[in-house]
Amino acid sequence: FGLMTYDPGFLNTASCRSSITYIDGERGILEYRGIPIEQLCEHSTYLEVAYLLIYGELPTRKQLDDWVYEITHHTYVHENIKDFMDGFRHDAHPMGMLLASVGALSTFYPGASNIRDENERHMAAVRLIAKMPTLAAFAYRHSLGLPYVYPDNELSYTGNFLSMLFKMAEPRYEVDPRLERALDVLFILHADHEQNCSTNAVRGVGSSLVDPYSAIAAGIAGLYGPLHGGANVQVLKMLRRIGSVENIPDYLESVKNGDERLMGFGHRVYKNYDPRARIIKSNVDEVLEAVGKTSPLLEIATELEKRALDDEYFTSRKLYPNVDFYSGLIYEALGIPTESSTVVFAIARTSGWIANWLEMLEDPEQRIARPRQIYTGPRNRDYVSIDQR
Ligand code: CMC
Repeated sequence: FGLMTYDPGFLNTASCRSSITYIDGERGILEYRGIPIEQLCEHSTYLEVAYLLIYGELPTRKQLDDWVYEITHHTYVHENIKDFMDGFRHDAHPMGMLLASVGALSTFYPGASNIRDENERHMAAVRLIAKMPTLAAFAYRHSLGLPYVYPDNELSYTGNFLSMLFKMAEPRYEVDPRLERALDVLFILHADHEQNCSTNAVRGVGSSLVDPYSAIAAGIAGLYGPLHGGANVQVLKMLRRIGSVENIPDYLESVKNGDERLMGFGHRVYKNYDPRARIIKSNVDEVLEAVGKTSPLLEIATELEKRALDDEYFTSRKLYPNVDFYSGLIYEALGIPTESSTVVFAIARTSGWIANWLEMLEDPEQRIARPRQIYTGPRNRDYVSIDQR
């Protein structure tokens, strides 16, 4: 192997230096730019956190006002994007639509390929954060055959997103402040998580110096997969399959036999309770109360967690609930359909992707990401003509 290190899945390879997000997986600690996630969820807003991730410091009042103003006034997408959305089949997956339409944005903003221009980089950051909820909501409305709802600049970031999803009548969607805040907290929790699959994809593709819309589209593709952002969808499907508390022991047996995975459990980095799962869990009841619903799935999830955490199979492997174990339940309570919940994750993660993309560009040590391989195929074979095979 020479001097090469064989490390499939990068279990022991640091692909970059970063000062954005700190994780201590053994102790269950997550910090953005050094500030604990618990404090940010209590005191901050998603847009303030996005600024923190991207620019490294909490904004002053004036910086925050300007940032929020800019994002609020770039939420509209070009009208042709609507035609683009209309071209998808009625049952197209919203993540596929989001992935394609974010990639398409690069053709609407060709100046963004000038990635050494500071203003272009700033505008791409603003546009991506501003337009992602619009594209996500359009994808959702398309799947229902409903007319698209234009952004409402009088509403907050999350209030506007809820309006674009659910508004049915004029003049305005009435946003429940409790739901607006619950969604904002979910956005903060999902905003960044260092070198996960999608962020690694953004950095890897971005290292070719492609425009930011294309690099972020690569991140969305990574997030689409069931072992990454798609896990919350799998959790809801699993809870529905289990169906009732009595079936939990059988289900856990099939997990231990290796026939199933306990979705929403386990993490490459956390070998302790995921701090994000703890915060989300504490929000589920509040959201259910705000929408006046009960959730039979919550009962199953709570009991499943309890039994798994009492079971030697899970404790010996340090498998704890991760962010996705309870997030799907909040999305469901908010009325966001299962298939669209990964799209919501993508909106939130956009700020982390951009922060990582910018950091990668500014790193003088960064070169094009180009891992090596251990070749295992044959050598020195002769070509055989087609009529002799
Ligand atoms: N259910 C049952 N067994 C598991 C699970 C699980 N969810 N996760 C890991 N294991 C077992 C695995 O079988 C292995 O056991 P053994 O040592 O006997 O072979 C051991 O634990 C180590 O697992 P691994 O697959 O080597 O761990 P990994 O770091 O490669 O995978 C993971 C991490 C998140 C992909 C995995 O834990 C998993 O598939 N979890 C379920 C999917 C999920 O919830 N994904 C969301 C991740 S968090 C949010 C995000 O990143 O998007």
